[in-house]
Amino acid sequence: MRYLTIALTKGRLASKTLELLEKTGITCEEMKDKNTRKLIFVNEEKKLRFFLAKGPDVPTYVEYGAADIGVVGKDTILEEGRKLYEVLDLGFGKCRMCICGPESARELLESNRLIRVATKYPNIAKDYFLNKKHQTVEIIKLNGSIELAPIVGLSEVICDIVETGSTLRENGLKVLEEVCPLSARMVVNQVSMKMENERISAMIQDLKRIIREEQK
Ligand code: PRP
Repeated sequence: MRYLTIALTKGRLASKTLELLEKTGITCEEMKDKNTRKLIFVNEEKKLRFFLAKGPDVPTYVEYGAADIGVVGKDTILEEGRKLYEVLDLGFGKCRMCICGPESARELLESNRLIRVATKYPNIAKDYFLNKKHQTVEIIKLNGSIELAPIVGLSEVICDIVETGSTLRENGLKVLEEVCPLSARMVVNQVSMKMENERISAMIQDLKRIIREEQK
């Protein structure tokens, strides 16, 4: 039996994923050591390998088959547009992709004026404004603290993730439009899904059962 390789998104998503996997009987003790500098963790018994990667790199590893399976946010899947199968909504990491700004920007979104949209997600923003709203906008790519953009006058609105809404509230901004709901998803390499169908399907079924039980 060959190793199945699983790419996890560094941070909270990885911890949540490991918690969920543990409930299906898949553990990875090595990975729990917070001080380790190791990059690859192995579960010999189940012939599984895990590694941690930055979110946007997870779909890349999975598309190329360097990882058979990945766990990553739906935002990243949409933004990266990689060829892979999205097989399961893991039900955690829930948040929303929204268009936000000061209340005064609401009318700009309804007018046909050319507005500037700052975002870490240029592809999602482009798809929303051009394909769904048929509105021409100028997209400005930023790498973080997106809420700053309308405050300092870089853009009229932002396209960003809203979880609790407190970043917006504390900065005098509002959700003006909702683009889509988001959560953590399991993705699978297209060839692995065929070649290792039995093991991967069993893992998906086990996870589905646990998720169903947790939702009860
Ligand atoms: C995300 C997002 C918002 C914030 C939303 O930023 O970009 O800024 O969280 O969460 P809230 O609705 O609970 O306030 P993140 O912390 O990932 O950092 P970033 O600014 O680098 O994108």
